[in-house]
Amino acid sequence: MSSAKEIGKEYPPEEEEQNILELGRILAKDQHVHPGKWRRGQHPKHHGCVRAKFTVADDLPGVLRHGIFKEPHVFNAYIRFSNGKSDDDRNIDVRGMAIKLLQVNGKKASVSEQFTQDFMTADNPVFFARNVRHLLDFVIARDSGKPIQEIAQNFPKLIGFSKLPPASPLETRYWSQTPYLLGNIAVKYSIKPSKANVSGKSPVDDANFLRAALKDWLVAKPAQFDFLVQLQTDPDAMPVEDPTVEWDEMVSPFIKVATIEIPAQTFDSPGQMAFCEALSYTPWHSLLEQRPLGGINRARRPIYEESSTLRHQKLEPSGEESF
Ligand code: HEM
Repeated sequence: MSSAKEIGKEYPPEEEEQNILELGRILAKDQHVHPGKWRRGQHPKHHGCVRAKFTVADDLPGVLRHGIFKEPHVFNAYIRFSNGKSDDDRNIDVRGMAIKLLQVNGKKASVSEQFTQDFMTADNPVFFARNVRHLLDFVIARDSGKPIQEIAQNFPKLIGFSKLPPASPLETRYWSQTPYLLGNIAVKYSIKPSKANVSGKSPVDDANFLRAALKDWLVAKPAQFDFLVQLQTDPDAMPVEDPTVEWDEMVSPFIKVATIEIPAQTFDSPGQMAFCEALSYTPWHSLLEQRPLGGINRARRPIYEESSTLRHQKLEPSGEESF
């Protein structure tokens, strides 16, 4: 039976806008948890922001030649590695890798940054909520104090979403989870570490060991990742509106489109750490040709903007300031 749905198209459900507003109101409250500190609503702890080069491959097929992949090019980038929630790296959590390409020219999906292209990824192939309503149900259940085991019955993809930490942020694979436009079709992204990044070490029993692992590696050696895209080839089996569904790699394999090189460097001066804290990433810092797709991404548009605005505009002293 042929599908009524089309490749690369969005299908917003009714009442999504109200649900996004309610979700945003609830999540903004999570931000002000320490006196004097407005941190990111999610992924508040960074291991570091490192300088990188993002080299677009020169042998790509025409179907991928859109947006920043239009022609071979080397972009300078900042990559921020983070934990999803916890300040203690030993905890079960989500790990994030957010890339910001610099000096990207073209028509943008958002006006908040004019010359950047962000890619946001985490260490699991799928998100745990199907759509905005499902995510709102999760947040309401969490805030009501329901035990997580009970909540998980309605969120089966929570299992495996948070996990034990890798030995280093340079040794794990990351996925966009949600889809993005590329020309006229939808794609998902993934970032695969080079085998040469593997230290052979185990996680260390220290709250900040991921930053230490990044620092120890990069002080002497570079690191490399492959940046991959996966094309949507079936609008039903590979939906745009449900990021809990993994797009089958056997049906549509990931294709390498760029190489990420992180040169040897130090990145933890107080100035660079403060710069890292102040940066803002959002999937909506994007060329229009590569804009985010699907309900979860539509919700991220106002919510990331609000999170960034709050932490940049609010100044409530705690007494712990140093000058
Ligand atoms: C509706 C669903 C989601 C909501 C409401 C949400 C919310 C947020 C917020 C508020 C921030 C902090 C923004 C800032 O202050 O600059 C953030 C950061 C982040 N989110 Fe999400 N998020 C969602 C889905 C996702 C998904 C699907 C991914 C997948 C890969 C993801 C990965 C990240 C990462 C890596 C960061 C850290 C960015 C940085 O390094 O600054 N999020 N998220």
